[in-house]
Amino acid sequence: MILMGPPGAGKGTQAKLLEKHFQVRHISSGDLLRGAVDQNTPLGQQAKRYMDHGELVPDDVLLGTIEERLRRDDSQGGFILDGFPRTVAQADALCGLLQMMNARIDDVTSILVPRDELVKRLSGRRTCRACGTMYHAIFDQPRVAGVCDRCQGELYQRVDDREETIRARLEVYDRQTAPVLNTYRERNLLREVDGIGSREQVFGRILAQVQKHG
Ligand code: AP5
Repeated sequence: MILMGPPGAGKGTQAKLLEKHFQVRHISSGDLLRGAVDQNTPLGQQAKRYMDHGELVPDDVLLGTIEERLRRDDSQGGFILDGFPRTVAQADALCGLLQMMNARIDDVTSILVPRDELVKRLSGRRTCRACGTMYHAIFDQPRVAGVCDRCQGELYQRVDDREETIRARLEVYDRQTAPVLNTYRERNLLREVDGIGSREQVFGRILAQVQKHG
């Protein structure tokens, strides 16, 4: 399954719920890249300068990492892709890779959220460094400021969640990622889901779509 939608649409949030529900791996290209940046690997060093400005990491830097991740044993029972593919070239690369792996795309869900709401969500997002749980500085505060309710880890703001970088990411989405939706629409794989409402409401809509078409 592929989860699509602009930055802040709730792809990561919904992918975690789907991972638990279907017992298949959530694979986030953003998380893979942020992990590489944190560990200061050669991939991370190259990726950081693009990510900090809200630009896409070039395919020659990213594609090998995605392929390696999809070929691991824990992906063989299926996976939920979040943040990949983000360009038509990446969608083509994924198609070729899945053919080689004898796998297929069952479902592409695009989460729809208006722009103002995206900016609000992202500018207030706080994430636990230890367990990845997400909070919001105004709408979903932790019990103790800066501390994760679940694991007491430290909460941080992503470098690319500053307002001017958020706007750059949204422009990149419109220009480079929105055209990918058409390729899946033409193949009759695309389902669109309203992303406004509680996390549980959005999750219910995604499940209903998957079950209807599954
Ligand atoms: P990536 O990490 O993929 O970021 P993104 O696509 O910009 O998406 P986000 O993680 O910001 O948002 P999301 O839709 O997952 O929403 P979330 O659930 O977190 O990519 C980061 C960077 O890495 C890119 O800019 C690029 O540089 C690089 N990159 C990654 N993939 C790449 C690729 N394929 N090719 C090239 N470069 C690549 O939720 C957001 C907030 O909203 C949270 O605070 C959450 O709590 C809240 N929220 C969620 N659901 C709801 C709800 N229903 N109601 C209210 N609030 C909600």
